[in-house]
Amino acid sequence: MSEILIEQIDQVLHLTLNRPEKKNAITQSMYRLLADSLNQAAGDFGIRDVVISGAGKAFTAGNDIMDFMNEEITMSSPVFHFLKALHDFPKPLIAAVHGNAVGIGTTMLMHCDLVYAADDTTFSMPFVTLGLVPEAGSSILFPKLVGHAKASEIFLTGRSFGADEALALGLINGIEDDPTRKALEIAEVIALQPPTAVLNTKALLKSGSHIAVENVMQAEGEMFRIALASDETQGAFMKFMSSRMKG
Ligand code: COA
Repeated sequence: MSEILIEQIDQVLHLTLNRPEKKNAITQSMYRLLADSLNQAAGDFGIRDVVISGAGKAFTAGNDIMDFMNEEITMSSPVFHFLKALHDFPKPLIAAVHGNAVGIGTTMLMHCDLVYAADDTTFSMPFVTLGLVPEAGSSILFPKLVGHAKASEIFLTGRSFGADEALALGLINGIEDDPTRKALEIAEVIALQPPTAVLNTKALLKSGSHIAVENVMQAEGEMFRIALASDETQGAFMKFMSSRMKG
């Protein structure tokens, strides 16, 4: 079974992170598949929008920590291809989240056009706590969304927050019993709208910040890669892996 399920329902492409036994922690091969799927969907007239969700008990536990410990991450690693594909994706992207949305599981939502969350969702961006820096353009997108003070508080303390706070912050559109069903329903409604108007509206909504976000993503990527090799980060990863091994 693929770790990314790809299903087309009428004109909607549904991508499901499908590694539930690891809380959908995303590996470089999963990033590669996600990037390829988005790039293909971007050029496919038969696909009008994309829904992304997670199988099992979590949306995603973020980047796979073992991958980070074992693989050298360069600016041409699949994670960066995915981030570029996400940032450049011209069609509506709708996320459905539940359980844990860690790291990129929260930052990728800032690139999505609509987000629905289950009541049990815990959002977290523990980059600083892990000795890292924010990624995926979140160091510009998050303060733009919530203001500098709130973004600083959440990034610098590494604290998590729930669905109610995410709604109040404007990160999500709504709290749903079945966020995937809601996301697919909305995707179907948008898919029936005039496609050129949809594309142009998304482009206009993003036009004020597109290049700025790209520049920040480049800077974040460089700093993140350096931080990954630091003793602080490697130590935090070792601590997590050994705590899970002890069971
Ligand atoms: N990378 C690799 N494996 C991960 C992972 C990650 N980011 N997150 C969870 N897993 C694995 C665990 O090692 C465990 O594997 P095992 O059953 O073989 O031991 C399995 O997924 C289930 O995770 P577990 O921690 O037991 O689930 P939980 O419900 O108790 O906690 C989380 C869920 C998400 C809170 C917790 O797994 C966690 O904090 N993960 C790390 C998040 C993180 O720091 N991500 C990196 C951000 S840059």
